[in-house]
Amino acid sequence: MKIFLFLALIVSSYSYAQSGHDHQGDAKKKDDHHSEMHDDGHHGMGGMMHGGHHKLDKTTLKQFFEPLPAAIIDEKKNAALIALGKKLYLDPKLSVNDTISCNSCHQLNNFGVDSQPTSPGHEGKRGGRNSPTTFNAALHIAQFWDGRAKDVEEQALGPILNPIEMGMPSEAAVVDKLKKIDEYKAMFAEAFKGEKDPIQYKNIGKAIGAFERTLITPSRFDDFLKGDENALNDAEKRGLQKFVHMGCANCHNGVAIGGNSYKKIGLVEEYKTSDEGRFAVTGLETDKKVFKVPSLRNITKTGPYFHDGSVKTLDEAIEEMAEHQLGRKVGPGFIEDVKAFLGALTAKDSK
Ligand code: HEC
Ligand code: HEC
Repeated sequence: MKIFLFLALIVSSYSYAQSGHDHQGDAKKKDDHHSEMHDDGHHGMGGMMHGGHHKLDKTTLKQFFEPLPAAIIDEKKNAALIALGKKLYLDPKLSVNDTISCNSCHQLNNFGVDSQPTSPGHEGKRGGRNSPTTFNAALHIAQFWDGRAKDVEEQALGPILNPIEMGMPSEAAVVDKLKKIDEYKAMFAEAFKGEKDPIQYKNIGKAIGAFERTLITPSRFDDFLKGDENALNDAEKRGLQKFVHMGCANCHNGVAIGGNSYKKIGLVEEYKTSDEGRFAVTGLETDKKVFKVPSLRNITKTGPYFHDGSVKTLDEAIEEMAEHQLGRKVGPGFIEDVKAFLGALTAKDSK
């Protein structure tokens, strides 16, 4: 798949070079979207456009993107587990001084983020990384910016004991605390039927993980991928095309439009950061400054951006990506259109 995408991009740029500028249809627009960058290879991507200006080739799209599945967990069968997970997610009792819950940094009514560059923990201290959204996170290849936890079940057990975040002293202390709460006794028994001693540390992760698996957010782009041509407007379709032709989709692709690979930040133009990313996990020299490619679902709502939260606006994030990952300078026309497309990745029910 990766090799295919890579080839597709090469073919795309090659056929672009062959075809030269072909501005049909775009001449009408007031600012010339082509003069600022050369991303509109109209004959690239194996005929991404045929017929009308915005007609996108479905086969090409399917090579890059996949609509969200209806569900990734059986919500009926796991109702008790999910209800417990939600309660734990929202409960500040999981922190040492009863002040911080998962929801403090990953707010369910705020697209799973806290909208801050970095997040204050139970004593107000901040870690070095931006809180990524929990929405759709269960779809990623692994969790955290550096992928150090394998799934949401494993991930959930980290912050509770993290001294900066929720600050509980030990697994046993968490279990003891929950065992004193009658409601949890009942809910754990119900969720882990048949287990003799259901209040166990690893079961907290299982329950929170099950809840997080329900946090998937279908968007208008999913409707579009499933065949509803009218689900995107013209600007969004233009943005999608630019996103693919420029090469953004080489990294941000698949069902979460990202979240499925690790890439270096500053692949083409150096990006300054003291965070060594995945190097801390693998110890491989080649993993320095390598991060999980973030999912772009709900991205217009989850700023500030990048692993350190240093990028305030989506405009800047798009511009920096083009520069650092692709060595391209983009202007306002590109940014506007791509931003419009990214807006179509926002949860439908949030409008
Ligand atoms: C004090 C703020 C804070 C609290 C509390 C917190 N998190 Fe996080 N969370 C973060 C930060 C920061 C990261 C990124 C850390 C990293 O990548 O090294 C993160 C990462 C994650 C991720 C990975 C998402 C991805 O895209 O890789 C998930 C899932 C998550 N947290 C869920 C939870 C759950 C569940 C809880 C409660 C048990 C929780 N968090 C508590 C700040 C917090
Ligand atoms: C070579 C792979 C690659 C390419 C190409 C690429 N990105 Fe990224 N993108 C990344 C990685 C890795 C990050 C995380 C960087 C970090 O935080 O240090 C990222 C982060 C982002 C973010 C911020 C996400 C967040 O949650 O903070 C946005 C927005 C984004 N990319 C959009 C784009 C756009 C638009 C393009 C095309 C102009 C693009 N990317 C091209 C790999 C890539």
